[in-house]
Amino acid sequence: MARIDIFDTTLRDGEQSPGASMTPPEKLRLAHQLEALGVDIIEAGFPITSEDDFKSVQTIAREVRGPAIAGLARAVHKDIERAAAALEGAHRARLHTFLATSPIHLQHKLKISEAECLDRAAEAVRFARTLVDEVEFSAEDALRSDLPFLARVVEVVIQAGAKIVNIPDTVGYAYPEQIRRTMRTLIETVPGIDGIVLSTHCHNDLGLAVANSLAAIEAGARQVECTINGIGERAGNTALEEIVMALVVRQDAFGHTTGVNTREIHRSSQLLSFLTGINPQPNKAIVGKNAFAHEAGIHQDGVLKERTTYEIMTPELVGVPESQLVLGKHSGRHALDRRYRELGYELTAENLNQAYKLFKLLADQKKSILDEDLISILHHGTMEDVPTRFKLHTLDISCGKRPAEARVKLVDNGEETDLSVSVGDGPIAAAFDAINVLLPFRPTLDDLQIQANPGGVEAVGEVRLRLKVEGKTFTGRGASPDVVVGAVRAYLHAINKATHALSLEGQALARPDLIPGNG
Ligand code: KIV
Ligand code: ZN
Repeated sequence: MARIDIFDTTLRDGEQSPGASMTPPEKLRLAHQLEALGVDIIEAGFPITSEDDFKSVQTIAREVRGPAIAGLARAVHKDIERAAAALEGAHRARLHTFLATSPIHLQHKLKISEAECLDRAAEAVRFARTLVDEVEFSAEDALRSDLPFLARVVEVVIQAGAKIVNIPDTVGYAYPEQIRRTMRTLIETVPGIDGIVLSTHCHNDLGLAVANSLAAIEAGARQVECTINGIGERAGNTALEEIVMALVVRQDAFGHTTGVNTREIHRSSQLLSFLTGINPQPNKAIVGKNAFAHEAGIHQDGVLKERTTYEIMTPELVGVPESQLVLGKHSGRHALDRRYRELGYELTAENLNQAYKLFKLLADQKKSILDEDLISILHHGTMEDVPTRFKLHTLDISCGKRPAEARVKLVDNGEETDLSVSVGDGPIAAAFDAINVLLPFRPTLDDLQIQANPGGVEAVGEVRLRLKVEGKTFTGRGASPDVVVGAVRAYLHAINKATHALSLEGQALARPDLIPGNG
């Protein structure tokens, strides 16, 4: 039996999912949750890519003490120096450097020979080891590389001081037997590989990421790189919850353990969905809304008689809370605190006070407060994650006749704006249009989802949306019993993120040395 290290890359590879970008405070919040989940390594970002990424890695390295914190760097000195600087202050830092090794990448992307690739890989690791003790090397596109050449690369990076060697299936092209063979060949033929942690990192383009990761483990990999909800480039990465639960549920077959506290899986998944506005599909294994729902009569009957007839794991094992109607207008702060604890949220006194105020406001409008409402309140109450240049001052809507009309006034940096009046096909379109007139840029809406927490006409509407500003995507969220107000809150949330990002970009332009691709 071996202990498999869980290397979570939600904050780096996961964040490369379209629309999944998070602000530094959101990343820190998720990193704390990953710590509670019990992952071994958090890849916190790619520090050279932006000032924001650098700061995120730096803050996480300083504040999250349980797991090792990794920062990514291309195999060039300036990336490695920047990643090492961001990691200063970590109780355990890992520098993760990578270089492509496949003929396609060498020829078309890097335009270097195999000999140059070997030199660069070794030099990057040697240099990284002068700055950070724990160095991981990834052979990008390893599964489309020539195996004897890949083995040479692995050999030289081990000689140069890499302690962990990752064999990524960058484009999700491999199949289980191929990965098994590749790992075995490396283990059997590369000099010096004993004592090195071999790692697997699979993308899901053919839907094989988890199966491939399991095959790699069977062949001897002892680290799995994965993301919550399987988010990541294109079709995503190996889903953390799936690989971990496969190892737990089929302990009999694989015989390995991890340090993950499975009861934190549901909460980690929910937090990520909330932060990015991206929900897993309902039938997604482990964390989808229907993952534990039994619809067919025969199945329901079976589960009532004996759970294991149709359940291979219990919802409790992955932390799905039992949903009950519990709170209402007359509930006090203690009851609220207790329910949050039951749902798994330990609130500080300050957060509890804030949540209680919002709870009281909501309870005046809605008879029964559901767990979903409590979670919306909590997230809403703590979502001041970017400086809020724009706030809502006035929103008057008239609709029912077409077109709808919206009258909006904002507060911009503490100053009341003029009243903006606009019409649209519906109240939300009219309100967004009225807001646009008051902004210094022109956003385009990409996606808008309204989800009503159960509760009939009193339901709280939770709005998540995605918009584009100057080619970049920003997500926003808002909640209110009035969906137009919820939508406007979500819109302003995304607008404030965009405003913040554009101002950071302005500062970064003054530092061309930090922009990837420049040299
Ligand atoms: O998919 C990949 O090859 C990567 C590397 C940077 C590890 O994400
Ligand atoms: Zn990747």
